[in-house]
Amino acid sequence: MFDHRKYSAFKPVPLTDRTWPDKTITQAPDWCSVDLRDGNQALVNPMSVEQKTRLFDLLVKLGFKEIEVGFPSASKPDFDFVRKLVDEKRIPDDVTIQVLTQAREELIKRTYEAMAGVKKAVIHVYNSTSTVQREQVFGQSCDGIKEIAVQGAKWVQQYAQQHPDTEWSFQYSPESFSGTEMDYAIEVCDAVIEQWQPESGRDIIINLPATVEMSTPNLFADQVEYFCRHLVNRKYVRVSLHTHNDRGCAVAAAELAVMAGADRVEGTLMGNGERTGNMDVITMGMNLYSQGVDPKLDFSNVMEIIEVVESCTEIPVSVRHPWAGELVYTAFSGSHQDAIRKSVNYHAEHKIEHWDVAYLPIDPRDIGREYEAVVRINSQSGKGGVALVLERDYDIELPKWMHFPLSRVVQGAAESSGLEVSPTNIERLYQENFVDVAEQWTLQDYDLHTEAHQVSAQFLVGGSNLAGEGAGALEALCDGLNSRYNCEMEVIQFDQRAICGGTDAKARACIALQINGTEYCAVAVAEDTTAATLQAMLTAFSRSGADSAKAA
Ligand code: KIV
Ligand code: ZN
Repeated sequence: MFDHRKYSAFKPVPLTDRTWPDKTITQAPDWCSVDLRDGNQALVNPMSVEQKTRLFDLLVKLGFKEIEVGFPSASKPDFDFVRKLVDEKRIPDDVTIQVLTQAREELIKRTYEAMAGVKKAVIHVYNSTSTVQREQVFGQSCDGIKEIAVQGAKWVQQYAQQHPDTEWSFQYSPESFSGTEMDYAIEVCDAVIEQWQPESGRDIIINLPATVEMSTPNLFADQVEYFCRHLVNRKYVRVSLHTHNDRGCAVAAAELAVMAGADRVEGTLMGNGERTGNMDVITMGMNLYSQGVDPKLDFSNVMEIIEVVESCTEIPVSVRHPWAGELVYTAFSGSHQDAIRKSVNYHAEHKIEHWDVAYLPIDPRDIGREYEAVVRINSQSGKGGVALVLERDYDIELPKWMHFPLSRVVQGAAESSGLEVSPTNIERLYQENFVDVAEQWTLQDYDLHTEAHQVSAQFLVGGSNLAGEGAGALEALCDGLNSRYNCEMEVIQFDQRAICGGTDAKARACIALQINGTEYCAVAVAEDTTAATLQAMLTAFSRSGADSAKAA
């Protein structure tokens, strides 16, 4: 059954002097949300009037100026919803609602009933023009299909005249445009535009749907450029796009087609819509944003968008959703975490104005994401990431040589659970493995006598006394432990730093000891750096088990 020979390649429009590949998008197109119509039509449970109202309010808040709110002649909830918007005066003055209708008189009439009293609106009429639909679905000739479109346009115009107080825009979609012969699509659209008297100054929109995505995005862009070049009344109309995502390229197709001359783009939040969905406005808008182009939509609170969309559509947003997903700014991989940390620090140090951070295409905070989520720890994470979490969430800054021992412990935990390790657990592992110390190894007091650069020291540790000598306090403790427990211990690394803020402890010391050939690390906090360093040595020593060897 799995046999590619069943399918044939898309036939491109003959365009050899295309200009769109040299264009860039320097401003946002006019956006039209079709969440409440196309998006809604694709839901297992279509939205209630309450859900539609909530989503409508969000779309307004995000800055949409054109919103297709339903198909009122086809569904009672859509009809009721449109009436609610109009009757309760919920449509801001700078927002135009749009409704869809087939090119049938009774449906157009009912559509105008739904809209009666609205200040301004778009009546969107469509019929299918593609070869397949003409031949196989409607059994109609080219002329027959064109006649349906023109007749629909006439009714749209006639019924509009019965509501002269409303500012009406007209929109026509040759459904399945991308599967239609281009010259024929142009012929139909020219005829519809002609019917609507283009010179009258009325806003006319010709919307070009890739009802089913059939080709690579460049071929769709060729179709749109060809269409724009050959449409007789191009200058009087706004050319709009309505791409679907069957091949996963709805956004790319819309982007290239904007380069090819389109003025307006229809789509939905998170790409909800029939089958694989509509063009995702968040993705296309954020693509523009990340290139320094104002998307003219406000995506600064993406968590709110996700919450409303999920509760209205009952479809969860993928954690990998471009720009918006929960994990799209998160690095689990150690090398990525390290690069992000260095790159962010580099930005801060060099006061770099334009964002250019490794692995982060935008600053996650722009859309309301926390920096905390950027570094998360699992078995793939490296030492830098673990240290970063302690520093970021607990203000515990460890010297670089401590990063590896710490991450080895955390990675062990991640590997044995197979799960992510939360910041709380990282801190717990840090405490358990490097800080916690038994009562008997707690430094209670110490006394130092210095004579001719030589220190003689007395330590009270867990209730018992210990004496030692050396060039400093640490060396003296080392001497005391080595003599009592007959071991060979030396200090490989140590680091002490002041702790600012709230607690009594004023210093943190980290130490790495080599005891009988093995390395042990520990951390201690105390009121002063000497006490912290001595305690760190005792803690590390206690972990070595060297005390259980015979005392000298
Ligand atoms: O996908 C499509 O063709 C449509 C039209 C009705 C515009 O949704
Ligand atoms: Zn559609």
